[in-house]
Amino acid sequence: MRGKAGVITGAASGIGRAAAVLFAQNGAKLALADMNQAELEQTTRLVEEAGGEVFCQVVDVAEEEQVRALIDEAAKRFGQLDFICNNAGITGKMATLETEDPADWLRVYAVNVLGAMFGCKHAAPHLIARGGGAIVNTSSVAGVRAGAGGNAYSASKAALINFTRTAACDLGQFNVRVNAVCPGLIETGMTKPVFDYARQAGKEAKLGSRCELRRYGRPEEIATAMLFLASDESSYITGQALPVDGGNTC
Ligand code: NAI
Repeated sequence: MRGKAGVITGAASGIGRAAAVLFAQNGAKLALADMNQAELEQTTRLVEEAGGEVFCQVVDVAEEEQVRALIDEAAKRFGQLDFICNNAGITGKMATLETEDPADWLRVYAVNVLGAMFGCKHAAPHLIARGGGAIVNTSSVAGVRAGAGGNAYSASKAALINFTRTAACDLGQFNVRVNAVCPGLIETGMTKPVFDYARQAGKEAKLGSRCELRRYGRPEEIATAMLFLASDESSYITGQALPVDGGNTC
């Protein structure tokens, strides 16, 4: 990644933070975005400690103008843009069909689907101008397999997978690759309530039991897959959704 510059959203926490540190350790220049300013600044400090050239911006990825401004600023400061990781995401409320809240669905879609679409839309001209680049969207195993309770999240992550494929069709001719990672259960801020509940109930061992490796994952294990897909190491891979889930979907 030395000599490359790009954007990571959802960088204040969990997978996005792990990716920011790993990308910086591998030489990338980074523009980091999130809504959580204090934790975003903490990630920025970690990236600086890793020797990375970095700036951060508070952005709501559901707001197109904010996403566009972030990407244009990154391209201006670094003089180039080579990749974007559309990683910010929210789960929305757990609900059954009877209790579904349309407002919750709209917000989940706005962040998880539109947010990634805005990132692709506004990064694409810069990547095309560079002669090529990479886009990595963070989907989920929830977008591949079904599970009760998280309908909006699951539907949004499935939509993100197919959006990834169609964007790859649009951008392949310009040597811009578009892929997704589909993490399994990872311990992050997003899943803290699940982990807290399981630990209190003495059921931590059960947390990873749905996958073949029989353990949950670490943010760094998703970050390595994101690095691969953002780098030239994956130069002939596009339009794919890579499960990184310990065998949850195998
Ligand atoms: P996290 O909650 O630790 O990090 C998500 C970050 O996104 C937070 O810093 C949050 O402030 C930020 N964010 C939320 N809405 C935003 C918005 N509108 N604009 C900008 N930033 C926003 O969670 P985690 O696990 O690191 O999530 C990263 C991605 O991985 C998400 O897309 C999530 O859906 C996905 N994922 C996570 C899994 C897990 O088990 N933790 C499993 C599968 C997918």
